[in-house]
Amino acid sequence: MVHVNIFDTTLRDGEQSPGVNLNQLEKLEIARQLERFGVDIMEAGFPASSQGDFEAVKAIAKTIKNSSVTGLARAVKSDIDIAWEALKEAAEPRLHVFIATSPIHMEYKLKKTPEQVMQTAIDMVSYAKKKFTHVEWSAEDASRSDLDFLVRIITKVIDAGATVINLPDTVGYTTPEEYGRMFRYIRENVPNIHKAALSCHCHDDLGMAVANSLAAIENGATQVEGTINGIGERAGNAALEEIAVALNIRKDKYPFTTNLVLKEIKRTSDLVSRFTGMKVPGNKAVVGKNAFAHESGIHQDGVLKNALTYEIITPELVGVQSNDLVLGKHSGRHAFKDKIEQMGFELSQEKLNEAFQSFKQLTDRKKEVTDEDLFAILTDIQTAAVDIKKYELVAFQVHYGSSNLPTATVALTTPEGIKVETACTGGGSVEALYNTLEALVKEEIHLTDFNLSSVGRGRDALAEVHVKMTVNGINVSGRGSSQDVLEASAKAFVNAVNRVFFNQNTVLKEPAAL
Ligand code: KIV
Ligand code: ZN
Repeated sequence: MVHVNIFDTTLRDGEQSPGVNLNQLEKLEIARQLERFGVDIMEAGFPASSQGDFEAVKAIAKTIKNSSVTGLARAVKSDIDIAWEALKEAAEPRLHVFIATSPIHMEYKLKKTPEQVMQTAIDMVSYAKKKFTHVEWSAEDASRSDLDFLVRIITKVIDAGATVINLPDTVGYTTPEEYGRMFRYIRENVPNIHKAALSCHCHDDLGMAVANSLAAIENGATQVEGTINGIGERAGNAALEEIAVALNIRKDKYPFTTNLVLKEIKRTSDLVSRFTGMKVPGNKAVVGKNAFAHESGIHQDGVLKNALTYEIITPELVGVQSNDLVLGKHSGRHAFKDKIEQMGFELSQEKLNEAFQSFKQLTDRKKEVTDEDLFAILTDIQTAAVDIKKYELVAFQVHYGSSNLPTATVALTTPEGIKVETACTGGGSVEALYNTLEALVKEEIHLTDFNLSSVGRGRDALAEVHVKMTVNGINVSGRGSSQDVLEASAKAFVNAVNRVFFNQNTVLKEPAAL
């Protein structure tokens, strides 16, 4: 069996999905979960792209010990220097540097000749090697590059010290047969290829990212890159959970091993979906809500007689619990703590107290508190910034009637600690509430998206709201959950506004303080 390294880029390529905007605490929680999932390498961000990305990569590099942490850099010295500053405290600092190699990218984007691109790649890999032991070099748009040019440039960058060669299908254009053939060609024609690992990185524009990745593995790739839930630029990246399960279920066809812990798939997928606000479609392979549901009578009958008739993946394999009823009104602190630890949460004493209080409040209002409810409460508390000056919702009231003009009254405390209060009207309850919140915050707000969904089933299900907005010209997203849709809406608005302060002011606590 050949071992395949798993390279996760949820926090870099995934975070490039339109409208996704994670704060440092959310990125850190996703990183911890990726470590638990067993990824070999995680790309924590693009340190030179923003101060926020730099800080997040630095914090993740300091925290994560069982996966190698990497960051992206363009083939320029300043990007490599910044990446080194962010990554130097990692257990195994690793750089990912890229330059485009396709004729269209070289001519129109880089405005360089192939020889100039080759020289830049060699120079930057040599430069990076002075700092990093592990240097991955990517030939951006490799699948539309000239194969003989690829052979020449790869040979040179390996000589310059690259330890991993990545051949991305940047625009999701290739097919399994074609992509596999490219890997085989590179394996067979690059004389020093044995000195580096070969990696694949696929986008899903034609819906073939997972199939292309598997074809690359079959043809000599020993590293596969992708994201959780397949999130990423445009149509997204190859979904790592799908690749992982395909390798496991079809071992007969794919004789490869990975270090992944498959039962962590569900939690990883839930965490990424909740923090990014990118819902997983019900029919999504492996992690969709319906992935294990059997609707037709014939299928149900077959499954009852022998599950293997229609079920090739068991829910347990990927960590889907069949019974998610949990604690109730009379559950004590001890049972609560046990349960949340079982669910994979590690909270400070302060946050644990807060979580227990929220749980108790919920049991007063809701008949059954499910794992899904707890997951929503706990992730909110876990990633709430405690030490920054921010807006806090004190109280609100909304008057709505079919023949009245909806009116909202809101009281807030400002980041300066001053209590402010006002009332406004709107075409509907949410609009009235948002007009009032907007009148109270001193920031320039434009709401661009509002999404309401329920957590779990039943009329007493929690409401969850995700919003996207610009605050003082900065794109942010926010989320809020509550048993009431208006309260969830208000929380999401305030959460989005506070992200601007969070990104400016947060100093992360050391992991030991958790
Ligand atoms: O898709 C791509 O080409 C990339 C590179 C930066 C590796 O994400
Ligand atoms: Zn990519």
